[in-house]
Amino acid sequence: MSLYLPHFNLQNYNTLASPVCAEFFVSVKDEVELMAALKFAKENNLPLLFLGGGSNIVLHDDFPGLAIHIQFMGKELVREDLEHVYIKAAAGENWSDFVDYCLDEQFWGLENLSLIPGNIGAAPIQNIGAYGVELKDVFSELTALEIKSGLSITFTPEACQFGYRDSVFKNALKDQFIITSVTFKLTKSPSLKIHYPALRDALTNVSADKITPELVSQIVCDIRRSKLPDPKTIPNVGSFFKNPIVSTATLSAIQQSFPNVVAYPIDDNSVKLAAGWLIDKAGWKGFRQGAAVHEQQALVLTNPYRLSGSAVLEVAELIKASVLSTFGVELEQEPRSYP
Ligand code: FAD
Ligand code: EPU
Repeated sequence: MSLYLPHFNLQNYNTLASPVCAEFFVSVKDEVELMAALKFAKENNLPLLFLGGGSNIVLHDDFPGLAIHIQFMGKELVREDLEHVYIKAAAGENWSDFVDYCLDEQFWGLENLSLIPGNIGAAPIQNIGAYGVELKDVFSELTALEIKSGLSITFTPEACQFGYRDSVFKNALKDQFIITSVTFKLTKSPSLKIHYPALRDALTNVSADKITPELVSQIVCDIRRSKLPDPKTIPNVGSFFKNPIVSTATLSAIQQSFPNVVAYPIDDNSVKLAAGWLIDKAGWKGFRQGAAVHEQQALVLTNPYRLSGSAVLEVAELIKASVLSTFGVELEQEPRSYP
């Protein structure tokens, strides 16, 4: 039977190391324990907070409800055809360990997504992405438990409505499902994606026959380590804002004053701007006021003194106002705030 721990400090359960408390905390390892936790919450009228690795949440105050740590474990090869393997992983498996496991087994497709923190269950929520690949590119299906009915439902790629840092679980179905497993469609022969600028640059002097998925994974890990702080030593939640999507007209207006602005084409009418570049150019790199702006990547806010998430939100507000007044661009927060 699961233990319901009262007044539980969540500092070790969020990578921002915010020292706030949940009214109750429980770890669940299977659907039976999860259903019991949902019953406990219903009977005691407690709001719910689902926790994976806690690497994409900002806890700015005590949580007046039940925090449920999803710890479903296990992975299996569910089927294969001539070209593909379908690997199912439970929600509580660590993402980065899963990527390494697939590389060891020579199941290809996840290499660009190496070293992203967090667990399998949260990965579809914002369709995690890095270095030219998103979860949707390797996704087959997922299972999720509907909170209201207790039914387990399978979601196809179409049903998930994946977008840039987005899915149906952040929109129409927000807070209605708990993801219990994800099945990935991986390839038996390598199919390398090396168009992302930083990755392409790192491979300039490597001959084509030497470029393997293992090498791509290693380079991605090296780039990440050079820019992104390790949350264990410097608490953070990765990118604090999404890269904003603006019209080509807005881009042209910005280019009048800032010809070097970094922009990626989306379609004929819109582009994605590098928010890190905007924040950097607006002069925020190295800023420190309780929370801080990371020296190597201005898109990452850090919490070196392990303060409440509210200290980080204060700095985020200053940055948003500054980017709006300098470039006329509105930034949207990427990690979700609680309560
Ligand atoms: P959590 O923070 O625990 O949860 C995130 C959200 O999902 C919360 O709303 C939570 O309630 C919900 N949730 C968690 N598990 C479940 C579940 N099983 N069912 C339903 N809801 C659930 N992200 C990228 O996309 N690309 C990157 O390159 C990247 N780099 C990062 C680098 C660093 C250093 C850090 C700290 C973060 C980075 N992130 C990146 C963000 C983060 O790693 C991802 O968003 C990750 O998927 C979060 O997983 P988690 O288990 O920690 O989620
Ligand atoms: N840049 C600067 N100064 C900075 C930061 C960035 O000039 O301080 C410039 C870089 O030189 C580069 C451009 O901005 O030209 C983009 O930078 P980078 O390649 O580091 O990527 P990003 O757009 O800042 C996004 C994701 C990351 C992901 C990387 C790699 C978002 C919000 N962030 O960052 O995801 O790892 O691309 O694909 O899309 C996360 O979501 O937490 C995350 C870390």
